[in-house]
Amino acid sequence: MIDFELLKTECLGCTACPLSENRTNVVFGVGNQNAEVMFIGEGPGENEDLQGEPFVGNAGKLFDKYLLAVGMKREEVYIANMVKCRPPHNRDPKPEEIDCCIGYLRRQVKLINPKIIVCLGRISAQRLISPEFRVTKEHGHWFKKGGVFMMGTFHPAALLRNPSQKPDAFEDLRVLRSKMKELGIWKSEG
Ligand code: URA
Ligand code: SF4
Repeated sequence: MIDFELLKTECLGCTACPLSENRTNVVFGVGNQNAEVMFIGEGPGENEDLQGEPFVGNAGKLFDKYLLAVGMKREEVYIANMVKCRPPHNRDPKPEEIDCCIGYLRRQVKLINPKIIVCLGRISAQRLISPEFRVTKEHGHWFKKGGVFMMGTFHPAALLRNPSQKPDAFEDLRVLRSKMKELGIWKSEG
């Protein structure tokens, strides 16, 4: 998709917010440009900044396990973040940084045109689903916005800190798989 490459090129050169100052790489996103399912995290951490790819550190390894556990491959989905450059010391991205960056995400969503968006953690769920979104209370619930099914679930980094939430997160991915089957977009075995 030429538009997607143009968007990526534009994003890789972006200096619109101060997060550009300390980055090693812009972490645009990775995966299938025709994905039916998009996962949206918060922002790059140290490993992501160094490698230029989302969810490649410890949280990413856990995320990959969850995908595998429900029979999905990284290459089938698309993975991106609310901000494309690493916030210093892995702090939460500031609302104004998200405001500055969200246009790239919106254009990614428009071009990919997924049927399902899964928000990984509070930061993306509160911005994309509802400002009052509470992960502990509302994880695994479906919201329909603009024809897209949206769900918030636990951020994989939160699961590393709080392993007691892992079974709930796993259940959310099973709920995701059921929705994919219901929508006829389930491509893997099982
Ligand atoms: N946490 C995120 O929110 N995104 C990443 O890409 C890595 C860790
Ligand atoms: Fe641009 Fe987003 Fe990086 Fe800020 S975080 S410099 S808006 S790409």
